[in-house]
Amino acid sequence: MNSHYNCFRPFSHFIMETLTLAPFPSRGISSRYSLFRRPSSRRNFWRAQTTVSELANLEAQSGPKPIPLEISSVEEALMGFISGRRKATEVAQAVWKNVVHRGDTVIDATCGNGHDTLALVKMVADKLGKGCVYGLDIQQSAIDNTSSLLEMSTEEHERKSVQLFNVCHSKMDEIIPKENPVRLVAFNLGYLPGGDKTLITVPHTTEMALRAASKLLDSKGLISIIVYVGHPGGRDELEIVEAFTSSLPAETWVGCKFQMLNRPVAPILVLLFKK
Ligand SMILES: C[S@@+](CC[C@H](N)C(=O)[O-])C[C@H]1O[C@@H](n2cnc3c(N)ncnc32)[C@H](O)[C@@H]1O
Repeated sequence: MNSHYNCFRPFSHFIMETLTLAPFPSRGISSRYSLFRRPSSRRNFWRAQTTVSELANLEAQSGPKPIPLEISSVEEALMGFISGRRKATEVAQAVWKNVVHRGDTVIDATCGNGHDTLALVKMVADKLGKGCVYGLDIQQSAIDNTSSLLEMSTEEHERKSVQLFNVCHSKMDEIIPKENPVRLVAFNLGYLPGGDKTLITVPHTTEMALRAASKLLDSKGLISIIVYVGHPGGRDELEIVEAFTSSLPAETWVGCKFQMLNRPVAPILVLLFKK
């Protein structure tokens, strides 16, 4: 089953899976992430062929407005990014969905307002109590914001999968049990939106955290980093992220970058995949 989610599965599988995502407008927030099951019958096959925009059109004609998809397929997110309709954060979350399995252990290294933590909870939590999200932030207000968002947007079994820590992410190896192989470590660098803009991630601790993350990460896992270069210190942080990425051996790591070349301060997505 898990092999279906392997990044190197056949392209035809990938297309089939990415087309199975569809909104579930009649339910609450948590169901926005619902995935229709993989198409098994001919009818479901054609259901899966319905594109997201077709669904939106159908909804618009026949009733209430569709709830926008929180996490799109990689294909849709990437095309959206290329055509200026999707943000780097959306591409990142769409990629996570192809790497992370239900029951996995993942880390949100910068919880902030909790949007990434919430997305990760929806990917890993299961009713058997497997799946674990560790959320870290250096500001207590960010931990509080994340906690409130989870309270509003998750079911009880999902909330149980989350542990939040008011701690610097450079100390993640002191928190995560060594026996838990980690599938994903997500960094969304910079400052807390709506918070104190002087409290930002800084190159030194970011580098320490990346080093710790690279050791905790399991094979076929991903480190995802969004870097903001529009604020003071942002470029220095990008330099550190790039230097760290370049230092990783190509035999065991793939390091790549998504960057808008004609929008110099647009956020940059760096993905480090452990083979
Ligand atoms: C851009 S925000 C993260 C946004 C968040 N991922 C979300 O979905 O809302 C960056 C966060 O990093 C946190 N941060 C800054 N330095 C940190 C550090 N050394 N360790 C952990 N978190 C840190 C900030 O407090 C801020 O909340």
